[in-house]
Amino acid sequence: MTEPIAPAKKPFLYVVVCASGIAGDVGTLIAAAQECHWDVGVVATPQGLGFLDVEAVEAQTGYPIRSAWRKPGDPRPLPPADAITVAPATFNTINKWAAGISDTLALGILCEAYGMGIPIAVLPYLNAAQAAHPAYRQSLERLTEMGVRLGSYEPHRPKADGGAQRFRWTEALDLLEPEVVGRANA
Ligand SMILES: Cc1cc2nc3c(=O)[nH]c(=O)nc-3n(C[C@H](O)[C@H](O)[C@H](O)COP(=O)(O)O)c2cc1C
Repeated sequence: MTEPIAPAKKPFLYVVVCASGIAGDVGTLIAAAQECHWDVGVVATPQGLGFLDVEAVEAQTGYPIRSAWRKPGDPRPLPPADAITVAPATFNTINKWAAGISDTLALGILCEAYGMGIPIAVLPYLNAAQAAHPAYRQSLERLTEMGVRLGSYEPHRPKADGGAQRFRWTEALDLLEPEVVGRANA
């Protein structure tokens, strides 16, 4: 008798969600990721959590949203990440991440992921006044040097309606795709 073949384990994607006006639409990215290879868990910044429908996201992913550090001895709520995307990524989190500041769980995961060689794609969503700050350009340069893959969103006009229609959630998957294809062929 032949042994049953165990289903291949899907790669696990962390979606880090920051406190942006478009964060509530993250279900678009979760659904697209699940359709093409990935199991998904969401890590929200403490501020970002307030922008999410927690129940809906947890029902969609099948995992609790992580936002705070667990207590010593508590089990890990999510499997380890095979890849990470930060979408939407705020001005605040991008600058802190590039500077190596780790004062939220999301930043802790991102700062450590570099040393662990986990592929990361970041989709900034911010306005042009924020993007004009010199620290922001330096942060993007540093993250790019670290191998982080950068989304193409051009910052919107400040004090206008934002650019939600131009924000391409699935770009995160395009940026990470070579990694998944590489794993499948390994
Ligand atoms: C309604 C609302 C929408 C916001 N949208 C954005 C945004 O799109 N991009 C951004 O960088 N900051 C935005 N902010 C400001 C961030 O929420 C703020 O900088 C916050 O500290 C970011 O926290 P985080 O990076 O830990 O998620 C927004 C704030 C509010 C109240």
